[in-house]
Amino acid sequence: MVPTATPPRELPTDLSERFELWASGIPYELGFWTHWAKTQGGGWPDEFAARMNPEAPLVPWLADRATATGLTHLRVLDVGAGPVTSIGYVPPPGMTMELVATDPLADAYTRIFDALGLKRPVPTTFAPAEELSAFLPEDSFDIVHCRNALDHSFDPIRGLTEMLRVVKMGGQIMLYHNANEAESEAYSGFHQYNFDVEDERFIIWRGATRWDVQTELPIRTWIRARRRGHVAVLIEKRKPMPIERENRFRARFAETSRALMNLIIRRSLG
Ligand SMILES: C[S@@+](CC[C@H](N)C(=O)[O-])C[C@H]1O[C@@H](n2cnc3c(N)ncnc32)[C@H](O)[C@@H]1O
Repeated sequence: MVPTATPPRELPTDLSERFELWASGIPYELGFWTHWAKTQGGGWPDEFAARMNPEAPLVPWLADRATATGLTHLRVLDVGAGPVTSIGYVPPPGMTMELVATDPLADAYTRIFDALGLKRPVPTTFAPAEELSAFLPEDSFDIVHCRNALDHSFDPIRGLTEMLRVVKMGGQIMLYHNANEAESEAYSGFHQYNFDVEDERFIIWRGATRWDVQTELPIRTWIRARRRGHVAVLIEKRKPMPIERENRFRARFAETSRALMNLIIRRSLG
C-alpha cells in the first residue's frame, strides 16, 4: 500500500500496512522538531528552556505521584518523549531519581540535536512503546509516563502491555492525551488512534475497532480514566506479568521483521 492522500478510517489488519500509515507521520514529526530545535522552541521558548534545563523540577502532577510512593529513590520512564523529555529532572526533596526517555525516532532526534551542538540533559534513546521490554529491564520503573505519544503508535494495546512489563508491581502508568485526536486530525500522519473515556472506562478506538482497555490487558489492573479536555489515565499494576521470554521475543521478531520486509518490498516496487 502506497501512502494515500486520504488515510483510511478503518484499522488495517495487516501489520505492514499499519507500519506504512505510521511511517507517513515521520516527515512531519521530524520537520516539527528540527524547527523547534533550530529556533530554540519557536513560539514556545519558555518550554524549550525548561526542557533543556537540568535543574527543572519534576512537573507537579508527577511530583505529587512521586511523593505519594513514599520512596527515596525513584525510577521514571517517559515513553514517546520526543527529542527532550517534558517532565523535568529534579524530584521532590529527600528523593533521588533516575529518568529514562525513549522514542522510536530517537536516533533521528540525536542527529538533529548533535548537528546543532545542543546538549540535552537526558538524551532520548530508541524504543517504540510496542517493544519496551526488548530495550529495558522488566519490573524496573516506579512510574511510566506517556504524553501525546501512545495514540501516535502503531499498536497502543501492545504499547500498554509493554508498559506493564517494565513497570514494577504496584507501580503506575500515567497517560495524558488529547481526546479523539486521530478523528479530529483525519488519521493524518502519526494520528492513528482515538483515546476517550466512556462511563469512566478508558476506550481506544479507530473506525469500527474499539477496545475497552481494561478488558484487553493481560493482567488485572486498576484504571482511573478522566476526560477534562484531555484524557488523563492512571493504571496501576496489581499482578505480575506472565513469563514468556524467549518464545515471545521470537514470535514478535518474526511478525515485525516480516511486516517491515513487506513494507520495504512494496516501496521498492513503487
Ligand atoms: C507529539 S510528540 C509528543 C512528545 C512528548 N511526549 C511531548 O509531550 O512533548 C509524539 C511523539 O510520539 C512518538 N511516537 C510515535 N510512535 C510511537 C510509538 N510507537 N511508541 C512511542 N512513541 C511514539 C513520536 O516519535 C513523537 O516523538
